[in-house]
Amino acid sequence: MGYERKDYYFEKAKKEGLRARSSYKLIEIAKKYQLIKKNDSVLDIGCAPGSWLQVVKKMTKGRIVGVDIVSIKPIEGIEFIQGSIEDSEVQEQLKEKFDVVLSDIAPKTTGVRERDQVLSYILSQQSFIMAKKLLNTNGNFVVKTFQSQETEDLVKEMKPFFTFLKRYVPESTRQGSKEVYIVATGFKK
Ligand SMILES: C[S@@+](CC[C@H](N)C(=O)[O-])C[C@H]1O[C@@H](n2cnc3c(N)ncnc32)[C@H](O)[C@@H]1O
Repeated sequence: MGYERKDYYFEKAKKEGLRARSSYKLIEIAKKYQLIKKNDSVLDIGCAPGSWLQVVKKMTKGRIVGVDIVSIKPIEGIEFIQGSIEDSEVQEQLKEKFDVVLSDIAPKTTGVRERDQVLSYILSQQSFIMAKKLLNTNGNFVVKTFQSQETEDLVKEMKPFFTFLKRYVPESTRQGSKEVYIVATGFKK
């Protein structure tokens, strides 16, 4: 394991029994934007290894569903669908609506910056397409994307569907990271 991974949030997550340091990004976003209410149903796209699911479980008694290509160690009370969100079989399993859709989705990076940015844009956009289909009116959506020109395209696509939208980089984001979260609340049909 590289030095960079053994940072403050990495150690904190380990101590607190959370599966990844990224849990703190969701904690920050959820608190700042009052994203998840105590009975909300939540869909978590790109959920492995499951630290966002662990955080969500503490915030709501509602139904929680996670999706990822990679399998996760089960979490009691949480439904998991293994597969790609681009796969129609996965999409068919998701019929019921959710109050909140989260997507911390990230492509397998190639190291070629422009290519990784486009791959990230495609996955973030696909997450938005799912959110549009699955969100209840007034629902909330958060999606991660690698910052690029395409980020602005995604923001433009999303804006008309929400009452509030903001780009946000959590404090707990690793230094040098080019990730940004688009936080959108108040879904309009
Ligand atoms: C940064 S990780 C998510 C970490 C998670 N939020 C947590 O805290 O445990 C991004 C995830 O997106 C998943 N992913 C990438 N492409 C996907 C796809 N097409 N469908 C579903 N999940 C995908 C990856 O397998 C990876 O587990």
